[in-house]
Amino acid sequence: MVHGARLLLPVALIYPNKVNNKSQQPRLDRLGAYPFERLKALFAGSHGNTELDHIDAGAGEPRLPLPAFVAPTLQQQLAGFSKYPSTIGGMELRTAIAAWLVRRYGLSDVNPSTQVLSANGTREALFAIAHALVNPDAEKLSGRKAYVMMPNPMYQIYLGAAYTAGAEPYLLACNHQTGFAPDLSNVPDEVWADTALVYVCSPSNPTGWIADEAYYAELLALADKHDFYVVSDECYSEIYWADKPAGLMQVAENLGREGFSRCLVMNSLSKRSALPGMRSGLIAGDAELIKRFSKLRSYTGPATPLPLQHVAAAAWSDEPHVQAHLEVYRQSLEAFFDVYGGDIPAGSFFVWLPVSNDEAFSLAAYQQQNVTILPGSYLGAEDAQGINPGSGYVRAALVDGPDAAAELARRLKQVRV
Ligand SMILES: Cc1ncc(COP(=O)(O)O)c(C=O)c1O
Repeated sequence: MVHGARLLLPVALIYPNKVNNKSQQPRLDRLGAYPFERLKALFAGSHGNTELDHIDAGAGEPRLPLPAFVAPTLQQQLAGFSKYPSTIGGMELRTAIAAWLVRRYGLSDVNPSTQVLSANGTREALFAIAHALVNPDAEKLSGRKAYVMMPNPMYQIYLGAAYTAGAEPYLLACNHQTGFAPDLSNVPDEVWADTALVYVCSPSNPTGWIADEAYYAELLALADKHDFYVVSDECYSEIYWADKPAGLMQVAENLGREGFSRCLVMNSLSKRSALPGMRSGLIAGDAELIKRFSKLRSYTGPATPLPLQHVAAAAWSDEPHVQAHLEVYRQSLEAFFDVYGGDIPAGSFFVWLPVSNDEAFSLAAYQQQNVTILPGSYLGAEDAQGINPGSGYVRAALVDGPDAAAELARRLKQVRV
């Protein structure tokens, strides 16, 4: 039958891997392989120089000693593993998070009941939020897709979130010319009009750029004008070189915005407390958005186990361990740039280095110097002009202390492509 043939043919053409038009999720096909999968493929069949110890500067995984309170708190709370935790997080944790936000950003008040949620690491929350705040049927209703705007290069989760939520990513190039800021000034009005959500990341992974108060204020003015939400990924807020980074909630309050309207902030214990394996973070801001997100989360169920909630509450309540970590990161950055030369980034523990060809440099660094670093293009995406602003850079994570950072710099200086 012609009708049947017409039904089958387009599906096979558009999604060649699909067996029919009802199974499998075609939005997933828009996602490329995750950066570390691509790195594995790049290194496949190659060998690191075995005369040298391996330095893994690929992943942004802090490798500092466990803060002292972790083991005893966990030990005392083990019985909690025999209970289901609530997805929003217990009151003790949400109160500790609210108190931290108030202290850290000088806020007058954060309501732990309505303005805070627990996250199982911010990765899942950054991904899921687009599914709560973007209309996947925008195109059906208006003929135009909703945009999810993000820096480019970026933490790739934003891209995955946009695609799977049925949105169109709109990429804000962060390059040398913009001072690595996602440039808001060149976005056409019709794009702003269709924008549902903007991700901002400060301090930035991978560039180390930090948003100042004026940047957040400009973004919030645009959000009001064009009716969109701002999700601020502040995971590296406690890792900075000179000036303590401002945060979205702080700027919102300083601007006199009621109840952090349109704002959601995510932050993590992975970086601040060097607890990436604990998978614990915070979501905070506009109570309406929290309520909506909470509804989605009550179905997807990313609940933080109770004993870990207690450790998390202790971590948000303790600053000395964070200061000790910051000192190590600062010394590591200094040690790296003393050897390598160049400017220390404003924030995060990443260095973002210009190279002639990022894939070739990363592979050569592995083969010649037994060093793992990431090609910058894996952290970016091609824009409409076919430009990937991550190309021509490599990212290295300084997560093993100052001596390893200096050794990394020495080795990277010797790489020949
Ligand atoms: C910019 C950024 N946001 C979020 C995360 C997620 O961290 P986690 O899920 O451990 O909180 C990372 C981790 O590397 C990151 O670099």
